[in-house]
Amino acid sequence: MMHRVNGRRALLGLLVLLTGAMLAIAGCMHRGGAPPGRITATQASEFMGNAACAECHASESAAHRGSRHDLTMHAATRAELGALAPRAGVVPLAGYTLEDRGDTLAITRENLDTGKPEVQTLQLALGSGKVGLTFVSFLSADTMLETHMSYFPEYHLWDMTPGQEVKDAGDVPFGRIQQGEKARRCVSCHSTTVPKQSLQPEPRFYGVGCEACHGAGRAHIEAMQAKRYTEPHMENLAKLSSTQLNQRCGKCHRNVVDVDIQSGDATKTHRYQPYALVRSACRTRSGEPLSCLSCHDAHTNVSTDRKTYEQACLNCHAKAETAHPVSQDPNSRQSRVCPVNATTGCISCHMRPRRLFPETTITATLADHLISIEHK
Ligand code: HEC
Ligand code: HEC
Ligand code: HEC
Ligand code: HEC
Ligand code: HEC
Ligand code: HEC
Ligand code: HEC
Repeated sequence: MMHRVNGRRALLGLLVLLTGAMLAIAGCMHRGGAPPGRITATQASEFMGNAACAECHASESAAHRGSRHDLTMHAATRAELGALAPRAGVVPLAGYTLEDRGDTLAITRENLDTGKPEVQTLQLALGSGKVGLTFVSFLSADTMLETHMSYFPEYHLWDMTPGQEVKDAGDVPFGRIQQGEKARRCVSCHSTTVPKQSLQPEPRFYGVGCEACHGAGRAHIEAMQAKRYTEPHMENLAKLSSTQLNQRCGKCHRNVVDVDIQSGDATKTHRYQPYALVRSACRTRSGEPLSCLSCHDAHTNVSTDRKTYEQACLNCHAKAETAHPVSQDPNSRQSRVCPVNATTGCISCHMRPRRLFPETTITATLADHLISIEHK
C-alpha cells in the first residue's frame, strides 16, 4: 500500500511540474491571461448551487430548503416525487397510460395506425405540487414535450395542462411540443440556471434557488473565502426600490409588460401578482412603497395566517393618527379607514380568493393582488 501511495505522489509531483510548465508557456502566449481551456470551464460554472451558500448563510438556507420555490422542479421519478407521484395506469381522456419503467415514469400508447406501442420517458415534473405537476421530456437541444395532462396530487386527479385546452397544429398525441425561446422560458422560470446548449438544468439547479434571485455566486464566494469583504460581488436586494424589487419577482411572476392585455390574461390579477399589485390604488396613490416584501418573505412559503397581511393593510388604513406616514402627497388618502370592518377580514374582501381553474373540479384559489373594492 505504502508503495502505491508513494508512487502516486511521485506521479502527482510530475503532473504538477508539467502543468506548471504548460501554464507558463500558455501565460507567455496569452499575455496576462489564464490559459484558454480554463476560461471556458469557469464561464460555464459561475452558478454554484444552493449547497454552496449554506455553510455561510444557514438561516436563509434553512428557510428556503423545502420551500415551494425550492421544490418547483423534480426529476420525474417515483423516488424524487415521493407522495406527489401519480399512480400507474390509464390516464383518463389522455389516450395514454402511465407506467413505471425501471426507476423512471413513462407514458405509453398504442399507435393506432401501426398497431405498435409508443413509449415516452418522462424527465422532469414542474410545479411543487401545491396545485399541480406538469411533466416534460427533452426531445432535442431546443425542443421538449409538455404532456397533455397534468397531475393534481391533492385531488389525485389528472386534468388538461393549462394552455392545452385548445389544440395546437404542432401537438402530438402525448402533448405539446415546446420549442426554442418558449421552452427555455418554461424551464428557466422553474429553475436556477439553464445551460446555453440545452434545455436541461443540472439537478443542483432544479427549482428557484438562491442564485435565481441573487445572481451567480462564484465571484462572491471566492471573495468571501478570501476575506475580501469590501468587494462582495453580490447585489444587496434589500436596497432595491419597491419598483425594482417588484420587477425582479415579476421576471417570473409577470410584470405589466409580460401580460397580453388583449387576451384573457388581462383579468388574471390573481395569477400575475406584480402586474396586479402595481396597478392597485394602494400602490399608485401612496407614493408607491408597496412591494412583494411588504407582505412576503422571499425565502419561505406564503404565510397562511391572515393577521400577517392585515397588519400590512393597517400600516396604512388604521386610524388617521396611528397611520404610517407613507407619502407627502396631500392627495394620497392612505389613512382612510374601512367603513365595513376597520380591524380585520381585509384579505377575504379586498384580495379575494379567485379560482385558478374555474371550469374544472380543481378548487384551488389564488389571492387577487389587485387590491380593490368588489362592486356587485
Ligand atoms: C464563505 C462564506 C460565504 C459563502 C459560501 C456565501 N456567502 Fe454570501 N456573504 C458572506 C458574507 C461574509 C457576507 C457579508 C458581506 C458583508 O457584510 O459585506 C455575505 C453577504 C451576502 C449577501 C448580502 C449582500 C449585501 O450586500 O448585503 C447575499 C445576498 C449573499 N451573501 C448571498 C449568497 C449566496 C446566494 C451564496 C451562494 C451562491 C453565498 N452568499 C455564499 C459569506 C458567504
Ligand atoms: C414567466 C415565468 C414562467 C413560465 C414561462 C412558466 N412558468 Fe410555471 N409558474 C410560474 C410561476 C410564477 C408559478 C406560480 C404561480 C402562482 O402560484 O401564482 C408557476 C406555476 C406553475 C405550476 C403550478 C405549480 C403548483 O403546484 O401550484 C406548474 C405545473 C407550472 N407552472 C408548469 C409550467 C410549465 C410546464 C411551463 C412551460 C411550458 C411553465 N410553467 C412556464 C412561472 C412560469
Ligand atoms: C425568491 C427570491 C429569493 C431567493 C430564492 C433567495 N433569496 Fe435571499 N433575498 C431575497 C431578497 C428579496 C432579499 C432582500 C430582502 C430580505 O432581506 O429578505 C434577500 C436577502 C438575502 C440575504 C441578506 C440578508 C440580510 O439580512 O441582509 C442573504 C444572505 C440571502 N438573501 C441569502 C440567500 C440564500 C443563501 C438563498 C438560498 C438558500 C436565498 N437567499 C434565496 C430574495 C431571494
Ligand atoms: C402603503 C400604504 C398602503 C397599504 C400597505 C395598503 N393600502 Fe390600501 N390604499 C392605500 C392608498 C393610498 C389608497 C388610495 C386611497 C384612495 O384613493 O381613496 C388605498 C386604497 C385602498 C382601497 C380602495 C381601493 C379602490 O379602488 O377604491 C382598498 C379597498 C384598500 N386600499 C384596501 C387595502 C387592503 C385590504 C390592504 C392590505 C391587503 C391595503 N389596502 C394595503 C394605501 C395602502
Ligand atoms: C398587501 C399584501 C401583499 C402584497 C404586497 C403581495 N402579496 Fe402576494 N399574497 C398576499 C396574500 C394575502 C396571499 C394569500 C395567502 C394565502 O394563501 O392565504 C398572497 C399569496 C401570494 C402567492 C401564492 C398564490 C396565492 O395567491 O395563494 C404568490 C405567488 C404571491 N402572493 C406573490 C406575490 C408577489 C410576486 C408580490 C409582489 C408583486 C406579492 N405577492 C405582493 C398578499 C400580498
Ligand atoms: C426564477 C423564477 C422566480 C423568481 C425570480 C421568483 N419566483 Fe416566486 N415562484 C416561482 C415559481 C415557479 C413559483 C411556484 C412554486 C410552486 O411550484 O408552487 C413561485 C412561487 C412563489 C410564491 C408562493 C409560495 C407558496 O407558498 O405558495 C411566492 C409568495 C413567491 N413566489 C414570491 C416571490 C417573490 C416575493 C419573489 C421576488 C423576491 C419571487 N417569488 C421571485 C418563480 C419565481
Ligand atoms: C366584509 C367585507 C370587508 C371587510 C372584512 C373589510 N372591508 Fe374594507 N370595504 C368593504 C366594502 C364593501 C367597502 C366599500 C364601502 C363603501 O363604498 O361604502 C370597503 C371600503 C374600504 C376602503 C375604502 C374606504 C374609503 O373611504 O374609500 C378601504 C381603504 C378598506 N375598505 C380597507 C379595509 C381594510 C384595511 C380592512 C381590514 C382591516 C377591510 N377593509 C375589511 C368590505 C370589507
